[in-house]
Amino acid sequence: MKYIITYSPCFKRNALKELKSIDNQIRILRDFDENISLIETQLEQENFQKEIEKNNIIFIKHLAPVSIIGNITGNLDQDKQQLLQEILTNFTHVKANEKFSIQARICAGETKDKSPLNYSAKDIEVYVGTYLTEIGGVPTFSDKQIINEDDVNIFSIFINGNTYYIGNSISKYNLNFSCDEYRVSSHKGKREISRAENKLTEALAKYKIKLEDKGNYALDIGAAPGGWTNVLLQHGFFVDAVDPGDLNPILLENPKVRHYKCKIESMAQASEFSQKHKYDIIVDDMNVDPETTAEIMNILTPCLKENGLAIVTIKLPGNPEKGIQEATKKLSKYYNILKVNNLFHNRQEVTTLIQKKDLKTVNECDLEYTN
Ligand SMILES: C[S@@+](CC[C@H](N)C(=O)[O-])C[C@H]1O[C@@H](n2cnc3c(N)ncnc32)[C@H](O)[C@@H]1O
Repeated sequence: MKYIITYSPCFKRNALKELKSIDNQIRILRDFDENISLIETQLEQENFQKEIEKNNIIFIKHLAPVSIIGNITGNLDQDKQQLLQEILTNFTHVKANEKFSIQARICAGETKDKSPLNYSAKDIEVYVGTYLTEIGGVPTFSDKQIINEDDVNIFSIFINGNTYYIGNSISKYNLNFSCDEYRVSSHKGKREISRAENKLTEALAKYKIKLEDKGNYALDIGAAPGGWTNVLLQHGFFVDAVDPGDLNPILLENPKVRHYKCKIESMAQASEFSQKHKYDIIVDDMNVDPETTAEIMNILTPCLKENGLAIVTIKLPGNPEKGIQEATKKLSKYYNILKVNNLFHNRQEVTTLIQKKDLKTVNECDLEYTN
């Protein structure tokens, strides 16, 4: 079975290592670009998907099965009809009221030239999507907002040169609903303070965290210019934002935001914070090394409510596996490590979801991350 996989270019080696741990025989058939490859595994689609689900995949961002390979003509009318025909012939039809998504991508490849085609991936999506809608399917789009739905019937169409690659899977097996690593994602109409905002929004979608249910008070460390603070505000939080850098003036006007314009270390007498109130959630996007991130999060434990969640970016300028291991080992003294992923909006870093342990029962040797 073949798959198209995407990854951050800096973590390509790590992504392949993850795949090899599932199937030692796996091999790359082609690199389409610095972050997209066609791979082949000896495992059947179902088995491979089960293994992917079981393993703690960190570095592969998106995975799309390929079961049909053919050639396009370059003529939109002919190509869109042929691609639709392939889908109708080879896959079970979309059922009435079933959610589906057409994820077409055209990749010009290594030359970085513009695609030579005089049509876009959108043209294919609209044509095939309209047909499937007319027969009763419910289209589900990821280009207007960041979503992560598990049960959408996905038809992946990837075009490179004059070759097309088509596959079908349920979205949870793609690892990430979004498959846009190879084109700039723009979430139209949304007012952003910084692009970093997408990282938190994606983590909330991916980990299915409903912030509204989590409480009122958030601590945002490494907050400037304020993208994450903005997301927290949108979910109704009062935010203590700590960063020596400037916050966007719009945020400073908001009475729910308090900006501590300093490094967290200079106020990390955790008791100082915790005397006021315990935070319902802590988010941390500081650009410091993995060990410092973990040490600071550990110092802040008393300020977080029992079983409270924290979303933490671990920056990985050096050896990624070592960085993750060192940070999670330290963190695991006070937190359960729930998730570690190089998300779609992460570059040379991973997002981690951690939860404060019940400290009465903390055992010094509890839970260590191993990969
Ligand atoms: C990637 S930016 C954060 C972007 C932010 N999450 C947003 O959405 O706009 C990293 C920030 O970490 C801050 N930082 C680095 N070390 C810090 C420390 N020790 N204490 C507080 N902030 C720190 C930097 O000043 C920088 O603004």
